[in-house]
Amino acid sequence: MSCKLVVLISGSGSNLQAFIDAIAEGRLPNCEIAAVISNKPQAFGLERAQAAGITADCVDHRDFASRETFDRALQAKIDQYHADLVILAGFMRILTPDFVLHFKGRLLNIHPSLLPKYPGLHTHQRALDAGDKEAGATVHFVTEELDGGPPIIHAKIPINEGDTAATLAHNVLSKEHTIYPLAARWLAEGRLKLEGKKAVLDDKTLPENGLHYQED
Ligand code: GAR
Repeated sequence: MSCKLVVLISGSGSNLQAFIDAIAEGRLPNCEIAAVISNKPQAFGLERAQAAGITADCVDHRDFASRETFDRALQAKIDQYHADLVILAGFMRILTPDFVLHFKGRLLNIHPSLLPKYPGLHTHQRALDAGDKEAGATVHFVTEELDGGPPIIHAKIPINEGDTAATLAHNVLSKEHTIYPLAARWLAEGRLKLEGKKAVLDDKTLPENGLHYQED
């Protein structure tokens, strides 16, 4: 039986594209994307989904009076697609504890910083302002704490003279596209688990910052 992914997006969807490509190239065996759901009707990622023949759906947060009612509708929609894994791919909404609990252990996010540094927004500008020598991205399990769930894997890039938030975002994204499908594969294969507050891969607790991804 194949593992059904539902991918949540708010924007461009380049990480979604990385999943589409990984599946097409056999790097996510036995996985299929059951649906892509956006909270924004204009998100370009919805076009990427359609172009790949994947169901593209929208639950517009502006149609709901509260975060709770939006999350309940989103949860019901995801369940309709019988999601085994829920992949937050540039989904720019803070999720309620009930939503997170419902998908506990099968809800992943990618965040454009080396967590625990810079949860929240404007991560690359904050790294520049702090004079950091490196930037990166981290895949983590989602828990109730914003960008605070246990890291699974991170990838780094150097920050060079002349870098801007835009150049860093561009360079970090290309790393995101590698590490995110990799982490999802481990989860789909049952090798990766959320145990209490720890991420465990092949029965070993992962380091606090997650594994460090190194290119071959
Ligand atoms: C990515 O850089 C992702 O890490 C970030 O949004 C971008 C989405 O790009 N996510 C967050 O900031 C979540 N807090 P994409 O739409 O091209 O995948």
